[in-house]
Amino acid sequence: MRKLAAGNWKMNGTAADLVQVQALITAHPAPGCDVLLCPPVSLLSRMADLAAGSAVQVGGQDCHPQGSGAHTGDISAQMLLDAGAHHVILGHSERRADHGETDALVRAKAQAALAAGLCAIVCVGELESQRDAGQTLAVIGAQLAASLPDAVPDAANLVIAYEPVWAIGTGRTPTLTEVGEVHAFIRAAIIARYGEAAQAMRLLYGGSVKPSNAAEIFAVPHVDGALVGGASLTAADFGAIVAAL
Ligand code: G3H
Repeated sequence: MRKLAAGNWKMNGTAADLVQVQALITAHPAPGCDVLLCPPVSLLSRMADLAAGSAVQVGGQDCHPQGSGAHTGDISAQMLLDAGAHHVILGHSERRADHGETDALVRAKAQAALAAGLCAIVCVGELESQRDAGQTLAVIGAQLAASLPDAVPDAANLVIAYEPVWAIGTGRTPTLTEVGEVHAFIRAAIIARYGEAAQAMRLLYGGSVKPSNAAEIFAVPHVDGALVGGASLTAADFGAIVAAL
């Protein structure tokens, strides 16, 4: 399957930073993988306009489970689509921690995203204390069971990102064996849930992916791409990761 390099700008970037997107498009006009950038919502429409006709797609970082209504500060999946998004990241550990998002809420958001026609990137990952206690697979299994949508009519529209919380923004990563163990576990879990169609669902690794470790991580079985934070902010670093896929 074609791999996916997804960049999550988190709460970073203003209009001046769109030069990085133009530089990425110029340097990688025909990448060997799918390329996605998820900027803050303030930049979504402008980035979509800039990337139109290029290989770069854009996505949101969250959506509300409802389509519209009295929810100050929120944005719906339909609004993301209207702004030019193809994807939306859901259940990122920073949203789970900062906003108390539960698995049930993440599941509702994922279902809303699919219904709107977006590709949902659902994030799961263990805390360091949970890994140290040998609970990683149990934690991931429980998150998958409760966060994933009931039905996925098109396997291409569900992506799962494994992001160990302790590896995000720290420069630390699991061993390749540990990454492979979790990704194989996720693959088996989604096949058990959705059937053989789940072989086509992409599984991303996220957490301190950078140009120097991208190639070895991407070579791990069932790693179908990456969800990249800090290293997605510049065309130089993200372009090098795109080139490694
Ligand atoms: O969404 C991206 C992840 O949280 C990874 O962030 O690459 O800065 O560690 P990072």
